[in-house]
Amino acid sequence: MNSAVSNDDAHVPFRDQLVGNIAATIPGATAVFRASRIDFCCGGDVVLGEAARGLDVAALEASLHELRSGVAAAAPGPTDALVNYILRRYHETHRRELVELVRLARKVEAVHREHPDVPRGLADEFEGLRLELHEHMQKEEEILFPRMLAGGDIPISDPIARMREEHRHHGARLLRLEELAHDFEAPGDACRSWCALYAGAAKVVDDVREHIHLENNVLFPRFGGSCEV
Ligand SMILES: [Fe+2]
Ligand SMILES: [Fe+2]
Repeated sequence: MNSAVSNDDAHVPFRDQLVGNIAATIPGATAVFRASRIDFCCGGDVVLGEAARGLDVAALEASLHELRSGVAAAAPGPTDALVNYILRRYHETHRRELVELVRLARKVEAVHREHPDVPRGLADEFEGLRLELHEHMQKEEEILFPRMLAGGDIPISDPIARMREEHRHHGARLLRLEELAHDFEAPGDACRSWCALYAGAAKVVDDVREHIHLENNVLFPRFGGSCEV
C-alpha cells in the first residue's frame, strides 16, 4: 500500500515514510538501503515498512535516526578516546560513504548526460578523494596514531607536518567538488538519485572538514603541532 505520507514531519516514523523521500532527504540513507537491498530509486514510492518486509525494520530505523542526528556525540577528551572517535566517526564513515557516492555519481552522470546541469566529472573527483583519503587514513592508522598512543621519545613532528599538508590537498579537492556540483543544489527536475547524491555529497564534504578540523586543531596540537584555522 502506497501511503501518501509527507516527509516533512520528522515525527513520522521512518517505517511510514516513502523510501524515495528518505533517500533524498537523509544523507547517507542510500548506503543503508543498498546494504539491505531496498530499492530506493525505481521502487521508492512505497513506505519503508513495506519495502523492508522480512527485514529488521527497527534496526533500519535506528540507523536512519543515527544518520539524521549526525551521530552528534561530542569528541572525547583523552587522546586514546579522541583517536578512537576519529577512527569510528570519520575514517570508517568516509570509507563506507565514498564508495556509495562514486557509484551514485556515475549513475547520475550516465542517466542524465544530456542535462545541462549534470555534474560531469563528479564521480572521478569523488574517486580521487576516496583514493587520497584511503592512503592518508592508512598512514594515520599505521604510523601516526600508534606513535601518539605509544608515547615515548619517537619524534612525530614530521609525520604531523605531512598530514597537515595532505589535509590542505583534501580541502582544495572539496572546493572543486562543490564548484563542480553547484554547491550540491539539485535542479528542480532532479530525480531521487540525483537528490540523494547531492545530499550524501554535502554530508561527506561537511564530515571531511570536521575530521580535518579535529585533527589539525584538537589532536595535533597535543603533540606540539601548532593550531591552524
Ligand atoms: Fe584522520
Ligand atoms: Fe588526517
